[in-house]
Amino acid sequence: MIKKIILSCLCVGAIVPLLAQQAPQLGQAPIDKIVKAMTLEEKATLLIGTGMAGMTGGNAVVGETQNLVPGAAGTTNPIPRLGIPAIVLADGPAGLRIQPKRKGDPNTYYCTAFPVATLLASTWNTDVVERVGKAMGNEVLEYGADVLLAPALNIQRNPLCGRNFEYYSEDPLVAGKIAAAYVRGIQSNGVGTSIKHFAGNNQESNRMGDDARMTQRTLREIYLKGFEIAVKESNPWTVMTSYNKINGTYTSESRGLVTDILRNEWGFKGTVMTDWFGGKNTPAQVHAGNDLMMPGTPQQYKDIIEAVKNGSLSKADIDANVSRILTLIVNSPRFKKYAYSNKPDLQAHAAVTRESATEGMVLLKNAANTLPINKEVKKIAAYGITSYDFIAGGTGSGDVNRAYTISLTQGLSNAGYMLDEGVKTAYTEYIAAEKEKNKPDKSNPLANFLPKKRMAEMTPDEAALSAQVMANDVAIITLGRTSGEFFDRKIADDYLLSDAERKLLEEVCTAYHKVGKKVVVILNIGGAIETASWKELPDAILLAWQAGQEGGNSVADILSGKVNPSGKLAMTFPINYKDAASSANFPYDYTPDAKAVIGGLTGNIPAHDPVRNLDYTYYEEGIYVGYRYFDTFGKQVSYPFGYGLSYTHFDFTKASVKEEKDKYTFSVTVKNGGTMAGKEVAELYIAAPKSNDLDKPQKELKAFVKTKLLQPGEEQTVSMTLSLSDLASFNANINAWVADAGTYDIQIGTSSQDIKQHLSLTVATKTITEKTHNAMKLFEKMDVLMQH
Ligand code: BGC
Repeated sequence: MIKKIILSCLCVGAIVPLLAQQAPQLGQAPIDKIVKAMTLEEKATLLIGTGMAGMTGGNAVVGETQNLVPGAAGTTNPIPRLGIPAIVLADGPAGLRIQPKRKGDPNTYYCTAFPVATLLASTWNTDVVERVGKAMGNEVLEYGADVLLAPALNIQRNPLCGRNFEYYSEDPLVAGKIAAAYVRGIQSNGVGTSIKHFAGNNQESNRMGDDARMTQRTLREIYLKGFEIAVKESNPWTVMTSYNKINGTYTSESRGLVTDILRNEWGFKGTVMTDWFGGKNTPAQVHAGNDLMMPGTPQQYKDIIEAVKNGSLSKADIDANVSRILTLIVNSPRFKKYAYSNKPDLQAHAAVTRESATEGMVLLKNAANTLPINKEVKKIAAYGITSYDFIAGGTGSGDVNRAYTISLTQGLSNAGYMLDEGVKTAYTEYIAAEKEKNKPDKSNPLANFLPKKRMAEMTPDEAALSAQVMANDVAIITLGRTSGEFFDRKIADDYLLSDAERKLLEEVCTAYHKVGKKVVVILNIGGAIETASWKELPDAILLAWQAGQEGGNSVADILSGKVNPSGKLAMTFPINYKDAASSANFPYDYTPDAKAVIGGLTGNIPAHDPVRNLDYTYYEEGIYVGYRYFDTFGKQVSYPFGYGLSYTHFDFTKASVKEEKDKYTFSVTVKNGGTMAGKEVAELYIAAPKSNDLDKPQKELKAFVKTKLLQPGEEQTVSMTLSLSDLASFNANINAWVADAGTYDIQIGTSSQDIKQHLSLTVATKTITEKTHNAMKLFEKMDVLMQH
């Protein structure tokens, strides 16, 4: 869908030159003076972006503007009379997303594709994530952008959400802490971030019309908590509201969410913008405190002017929004006239992505020390299309225009392994032929933006396989998945393996095992897939995620033992899709027709009776998302939250707690008891005492810390501090966070189901740790909510 939006009505240059002479200038005069000097038309101009095609017009596609930084997602309007420059907003979150080539320009503008968010969360290492942010933010600065539209920290409520790869976790603490580290890293460059999509954007199907219906407790504890942590711990310059409604109101139109909660309760001082074309009622957005309408349309401009003129929108509302946008601009590199080079150090950043990717890969299985692949191994046969066509990241606005992607096989060759050339030729020829058959439709401007249909997996030829088994020492099979915005994933052939993939797995495992040779599976995926039915087959499974442009090198670093894996799952891998608590309330069986896809892109959804899970979604599972559900209700899983193996093993001893004025510091000693250097994560869960007011999950993650690289025999004592407010649950009846009295079981472990040490602490009196607004409450009981 091409958006041709030319804002000819916003011809700011036409303002009479006389005014310019007397006009205060941004940066010289205080912001309130600038606001005072602005005409209503200028204010409305500033509140909306330049539109997709940019100020110069043209044929930009969704997610791109052409002016200033071609391929950036959006630009604000300049007002030269007042010395207000335009600033540039660009996606996000796996790297800067701009156009890599420009007409008539021999230079290239490639950006580094870093690992997807899910991988970064699986590092459980905020230092590593901050380093990634620092490198990524440098590209934002050096390519002339001002704000990166990232990180995205929606909760992975359901395994099939098409954007889970852009999100961090099923757990709000992990999401919030990792997002805060990412924001700190990016913003250390003097550029901004936009934490998104605020909030409750947990499905892609009908994402612009869906109403996420949930209790306020669920909203506060699960869907807002990560944002709260990120706001309080990292001061993001901006927040992007989401497409969806919550309890009947578009988030961008909700004053309760944007002003009462985000600004007044959490102290957010920055700018709020809409998601692209998000929401419907512009005056309501302005009143809500959603400052900037992106990418901006002429209609929004007219609506603002009219609403002020007819008195339905106050001058105070627009002035507050305008002054926040001006503050954002004043802080921007463009306002400071930063002389960007267009030449970031891509080589140095490639090293950052390679290293960070190894830290977030999760070793799911390693029977009989199959990995690392020892030095005597001479030859590897690599099966599976994605061994050769490795997936660096997902599609849509979260994609990055990178110069290259290192495939798994390239990575293995770089590490000195020999690959079976026959197998390689068969795959490369097959992949080339399939790509030729399914060439992207060049007339469709979205062709490169939407998820592509996955190539059918090749099944092995029996005779060839017998020869390969004799000629090789180890087999590797890579299974790949990709997804992206606009679509949720499916169960068949996506959450589940396809028949061809299963056949490949079975036949390769049988053939290699027959002669005592090992098979390793690499999962090149962005979200959970089914593993329970086949995980017994291979000897080892490495969850490599979508690991960015250096992915193949990063996997080779782990397979060779150069790096010892230390990633941990930030989401549960259920046995069956239907085990997920949200499965009954998610559009898993929905395939949009053409109209619905267009509607999803533009918000112009044809009139129809509301459909459950598309037009409204009940968050019936409440706070029981992910491990909170599986562990509380005793449901078996394939791999639990927090899980991940290492080539060494660690012992946890000497757990202790120190209490000081409502602060609790927990320490534990982690010792590397194996023969190889490695890192371990200490995960701290609490089980709250039974409460008469609220039901409590069996456990909740409250803190985590990763050790340094511990040499064999080396130990480190790590500490985690909680305050009373970290023990609190949200009680909507009294609009407050409450820490119950009683004894809390403190569990320190290496997954939600592998607890190594218990401690306890007692809270003498029930304490209200924070009073809140009664914002966004509809009905507190889900059954009552569902009757409305
Ligand atoms: C996405 C946002 C993105 C924006 C600009 C939207 O479709 O939901 O995450 O930042 O486009 O490209």
